[in-house]
Amino acid sequence: MAFSLFTKSKSTILARCRDDYATKMRHKYAPYYHAMESQTGTNIRLYGRDMIMLSSNDYLGLSFHPKVIEAGRAAMLKWGTSTTGARISNGSRVFHLELEEKLANFLGREACHVHAAGYLSCMSSVACFAQKGDMILADKNLHSCLWDGIRLSHATVERFSHNSPDDLRSVMVTITGAAPKLLIIEGVYSMEGHICRLPEIAEIAETHGCFTVLDDAHGFGVLGRQGRGTVDHFGLNDKVDVICGSLSKSLASTGGFVAASRDVIEYLRSNSKQTIFSAALSPCQAAVALASLEIMQSEPQHLERLWSNTKKYRAMLKTLGLDVWNSETPAVPIVLGSKERVYPFWKALLDKGVFTVMSIAPAVPPGKDLIRTAISAMHTDEQLEKIAEAMAYAVKKL
Ligand SMILES: Cc1ncc(COP(=O)(O)O)c(C=O)c1O
Repeated sequence: MAFSLFTKSKSTILARCRDDYATKMRHKYAPYYHAMESQTGTNIRLYGRDMIMLSSNDYLGLSFHPKVIEAGRAAMLKWGTSTTGARISNGSRVFHLELEEKLANFLGREACHVHAAGYLSCMSSVACFAQKGDMILADKNLHSCLWDGIRLSHATVERFSHNSPDDLRSVMVTITGAAPKLLIIEGVYSMEGHICRLPEIAEIAETHGCFTVLDDAHGFGVLGRQGRGTVDHFGLNDKVDVICGSLSKSLASTGGFVAASRDVIEYLRSNSKQTIFSAALSPCQAAVALASLEIMQSEPQHLERLWSNTKKYRAMLKTLGLDVWNSETPAVPIVLGSKERVYPFWKALLDKGVFTVMSIAPAVPPGKDLIRTAISAMHTDEQLEKIAEAMAYAVKKL
């Protein structure tokens, strides 16, 4: 009897997998999981055709920088391929300490801890500091890793309208009691490309004594002096307690970081499950991030080129009458409003040799179904012209 019950429950899960609507749709229209056959910078080859990559987070275009590639190669020769263990046990190496110290200095923080994924860093920046009984105030449009951190923390959560200091203020006044409060925001919102209204939001957080966590995965390398990020952009370093982010975007690696005061980072090292029970960042990826960080400080041309490309690109989309959701950064959505409009637009771009990513509800708010594009410093003028032609063609297909 026990055996038949077990069998029944297993087949239910298998049926759920087999009959899943999202998977069926994904197979029918095939918009995701395309495996490129080759890549050189923003040139990719897909299904035997040369295309332009227009949705990578390689904002500064450092993933093909010779010094970055050489740093990764040298690190593997010296340290092997993997740390094969967690930092707390056998996985710590001196190169982790060097990267952490340099990131902390760059961000004006006392300390930093790096993880093998940005997802882990950002999730642990919430899950580890909040606990049952605490009150979390969360922007409605946070990245999935931060929501996972919120769920894991078991704290109570109140959402406020995306990037709205007014709504945050009105939610804040409804909160009674002395529970510790945490504010969770992003520096640059990844789908929308919006810069956080940090001056007003940080002031509210300060008035109400909030511990503030800011995920700057898309602001790091893009905003602030030499790419120090959103907090530096506004000169508000003393108003944010934790800056977390990713090594997989401007730093052209994979992995993530959490930067804060020494006490806060030491607490994370003792209490964060994502930190304690996950293998440490690999030698190659740590070396790549470190080399990119050095290049951000010694070669300003990448940041300059990123912004000049971004301005040209946004102006072009505006001329075509496309809705970019008031994006202010190189992460530029093209909002089309429904999946019926997004799919043909995405397909038309692909037919014209431009690779983008479609994002539909529930990944974005209803009515905001969009094509997610991102500009890189590596895009050439010629590529921007080809992108403009492809966009004009896709607009006609709408
Ligand atoms: C805002 C934000 N936070 C965290 C992450 C996770 O970073 P990673 O992809 O390096 O794990 C992402 C990645 O898309 C992101 O957009």
